Amino acid sequence: MNNLIQVSPYSIFSISAGRKVRCFLLAIGLCIPSLATAEKFKELAVSPQMGWNSWNTFACNVDEKLIRETADAMVASGMAAAGYQYVNIDDCWHGERDARGNITADKEKFPSGMKALADYVHSKGLKLGIYSDAGTKTCAGYPGSLGHEYQDALTYAEWGVDYLKYDWCNTEDINPKGAYRVMRDALKTAGRPILFSICEWGDNQPWEWASDIGHSWRTTGDIYPCWNCEFNHGSWSSWGVLRILDKQEGLRKYAGPGHWNDMDMMEVGNGMSEAEDRAHFSLWAMLNSPLIAGNDIRNMSETTRKILTNRDVIAVNQDSLGVQAMKFIDTGIVQIFAKPLSGGEWAFLFLNRSEDTVKITHDWEFHHLKDDIFNYSIDFKQQKFSYRDLWTGKKGDTQKPLNLSIPRHDIVMIRLQPKKN
Ligand code: GLA
Repeated sequence: MNNLIQVSPYSIFSISAGRKVRCFLLAIGLCIPSLATAEKFKELAVSPQMGWNSWNTFACNVDEKLIRETADAMVASGMAAAGYQYVNIDDCWHGERDARGNITADKEKFPSGMKALADYVHSKGLKLGIYSDAGTKTCAGYPGSLGHEYQDALTYAEWGVDYLKYDWCNTEDINPKGAYRVMRDALKTAGRPILFSICEWGDNQPWEWASDIGHSWRTTGDIYPCWNCEFNHGSWSSWGVLRILDKQEGLRKYAGPGHWNDMDMMEVGNGMSEAEDRAHFSLWAMLNSPLIAGNDIRNMSETTRKILTNRDVIAVNQDSLGVQAMKFIDTGIVQIFAKPLSGGEWAFLFLNRSEDTVKITHDWEFHHLKDDIFNYSIDFKQQKFSYRDLWTGKKGDTQKPLNLSIPRHDIVMIRLQPKKN
């Protein structure tokens, strides 16, 4: 365990061997980290992070057996080969702080300790994620990191943690930008590259201030496994797939490599229909959201596995251009999203939001597509593309109108490739 003793958000009495925090010494003998900002780890999340998180299915029922089995399943299911990397423990892993204030893991849930668990996850070629909170307590009432940021960052680094989801419960009177910056600096100072996932639910518009702080920021409250519902918990609500989608309006300009709009962990395999799961996954891919599975991947159906491992859809999400899809047609029933990809390719998604099958004819030549934010455009009269449906494999080209029959709550997603003249 490290020797750092931290007694307030900003005061540090000693630093573990070999590590230094630039700091100001105050007359009263406290040491405050210098305001010269550290940087976040720039090499992380160059494309949206992919992995799994325990919360949506297991809530507080987390233990080392679950995490080990999930790591095994990530490899055995083909998810690791498809790009999933992070195995993330959400809330409720914590024990008490020890006499020096160091955070410990719950000894009953994690008897072998976090370091051994990280070693196991790493031995599978995967990475381990953990969860904390910027306030006094986590959302489930476990110790938060307020006043222990540098100390906790060192502990995570010593354990071999690779990812931190940092929540926003119990933060009354705390400045969000400052709080997330302190933890960013603490992680950077601890020295181990740890992806920093901001979970502040969009309450303080993190897209406006967090691009040099975190690698992603939640844009909304929690997801719920339904198509278009609001699930009211009393003082807060969680949201279905379309509700979260609609809250992304205006945010695409803020996202890019290393700093993504996070639409929350996925609910694929958690009770929605196959069409809804396919639509949910495809939309998260198009909007460059982190792809963090939230189902029990040890026991998933083949249908769920196939959705989560669709490599063509994942490739759209992970494309090196890193440009989030734009919505360019919205009839209220059907919405069409377009995403520029590297090499002059594009992904298109046709979403049927309604309760009935819709038939549409999309005549490409009537459309001149312009992305005023990132400066991409297509004049379909001039440029011709061939395309492939990323779920059925069907092929076509933009010289003929596209006739689609899209079942309720479903999508069609295609990838366009420029034709050589
Ligand atoms: C908040 C977060 C969730 C989850 C829970 C854990 O609600 O938004 O994603 O981490 O806390 O308590």
